[in-house]
Amino acid sequence: MDRCSTFVSRLIVTALLFSIDAASNLQAQDPARDKLVVETLIRLKRFDVSDSEKLRGAVTRHMRTVKGTEKYNEYAEAFEISSAIPELVRLGIERSDETIGVNAIRIAMKLGGQDRIAEYLAGDDTSKSLAAIFALGQIGNKESLDLLKACYSSSPRNQQVLIALAKAIAKNITGQRFLLEQLMADKLPMSVRFAVGNALHSSADPEIQKTAKGLIKLPATADSRPLPPITGLIKMDGDPKNGGLLFAKKGTCAKCHKVGELGKDVGPGLSEIGSKLSSEAMFTAILDPSAGVSHNYETFSVITIDGNIYTGLKISDTMASITIRNAEGIDRTILQDDVDEVLKTGVSIMPADLQRLLTIQELVDVVAYLKTLKKK
Ligand code: HEC
Repeated sequence: MDRCSTFVSRLIVTALLFSIDAASNLQAQDPARDKLVVETLIRLKRFDVSDSEKLRGAVTRHMRTVKGTEKYNEYAEAFEISSAIPELVRLGIERSDETIGVNAIRIAMKLGGQDRIAEYLAGDDTSKSLAAIFALGQIGNKESLDLLKACYSSSPRNQQVLIALAKAIAKNITGQRFLLEQLMADKLPMSVRFAVGNALHSSADPEIQKTAKGLIKLPATADSRPLPPITGLIKMDGDPKNGGLLFAKKGTCAKCHKVGELGKDVGPGLSEIGSKLSSEAMFTAILDPSAGVSHNYETFSVITIDGNIYTGLKISDTMASITIRNAEGIDRTILQDDVDEVLKTGVSIMPADLQRLLTIQELVDVVAYLKTLKKK
């Protein structure tokens, strides 16, 4: 800020303080005034309120009125309100599979909430542990990885939690190296071998991928049979009803595709795919997604100055920031100032190993279902 605007900013803050003083004689709490104070501070980028009881009071009071919204996250981060940690963690765990929840956990970590989050990681409530682990995996920075590794290394007895930890660690290249070392030292528990193998086999790092492939084998399909060529698959009969169930659950397709109201929109909507693609094109789209990435769905990796990598679809790119939507449908906004490099990966974010989730017959059923999705 130049000297003139610093002066103006100080003047405005003085006026704000004056207005709080004037009002506090009459009525201690005035939500409209608190809101005005917070919005003005944001506009002035006057984020350090540690020196003023009154400003901090206005911020924390106003934050109470926006609990559970992105605004709450935004204010907690901007003004570094560490008393918001419990609420951030609560929100993060409740909505860990949404951008708002992942953001809440990320900010709680930044404000020093590690211990609070660790309580949930090791706690008795499995669904809460899984939620916290998922969110940490999505954050993918050094701090979140350290927390996940510490918890993983304490060998939780709950297998579901252990597998979730391994998967979350494997989301990050540094985490993958850690797991690869465990694998080479023969320290990887049986229960996580499939999850870890899967992640390492599709690592973005060719070295990790190569080493892992030499150490751990994976079945071709869920029933361990090698896939027949597509010409053979097309000749098989499928059950569209079963295919619909697989689409929503076991096949994980609905994690990225919308059909009617069902699913998330990471990838293209498939409500009318039956009118668009032939069976052959559908099998190709599922089995070799990177072969046909369309322009709108190119995957980008944003590398930040502090060495984190965020990979996914670029959903906005402005002078100020880039927003990346990852394979779980979680959005992450990175300030241009923090960006070191943006790379096009040329790899679809649609997993290349979906056949591992399904048997050959199930794969055929899913395509039979897609064929029924026609323009009305
Ligand atoms: C992680 C996200 C993700 C998952 C999971 C996923 N897809 Fe996709 N899918 C995409 C994206 C993104 C595209 C766009 C093109 C590309 O990148 O390959 C796509 C493209 C497609 C297409 C081509 C659409 C078109 O208009 O040409 C079909 C068909 C398809 N997916 C089916 C499936 C099925 C069936 C499953 C489950 C077995 C599935 N997808 C799972 C992300 C996903």
